[in-house]
Amino acid sequence: MQNDDKCKDCPGCDKKETRWREDFPVQWDKDEYVTRREMVKFLSLGSLLIAGANFIAASVPHLQHGGRFPKLKIASADQIPAGGSQLFRYPTDEDPCILIRDRAGELVAYSQVCTHLSCAVIHRAEENTLFCPCHHGYFTVEEGRPTAGPPTRPLPRIKLEQNGNDIFAVGVEV
Ligand code: FES
Repeated sequence: MQNDDKCKDCPGCDKKETRWREDFPVQWDKDEYVTRREMVKFLSLGSLLIAGANFIAASVPHLQHGGRFPKLKIASADQIPAGGSQLFRYPTDEDPCILIRDRAGELVAYSQVCTHLSCAVIHRAEENTLFCPCHHGYFTVEEGRPTAGPPTRPLPRIKLEQNGNDIFAVGVEV
């Protein structure tokens, strides 16, 4: 607050300095005027910036790898029976994933990070489902598609290749 506690906007005015002026001490002749057009422009630009930031955040895994992912051996095929699963990390040590042999004998792999709020999903072989314990989200084993609970997006799928008994992760499909 200024020493004399007087508003500086209007000469001769006796009003005290308003509280918000103390917090935002920018002085501008027309700062009381914000037109509807300016507000709409501000909201539109703000929305565009947020959308752009979200797009960049979603693209970071791809950008980090330049769109190319390493080929990494993650398991041996004979170690995973039908209904079995194994955890691994791909494409980096920061990215937990799960490899599952479904009931039909096909191998599938997903990011273990739930698409709701990022808890780790677990395989429930007896229910043939991927389950997120945080808010009871469920995903199909065959496609990683959400079937119940708050998640609305499928789990990112890890692309696999098999060479003899060796199973390799070769990419991520978001
Ligand atoms: S974090 Fe998985 S359901 Fe909420």
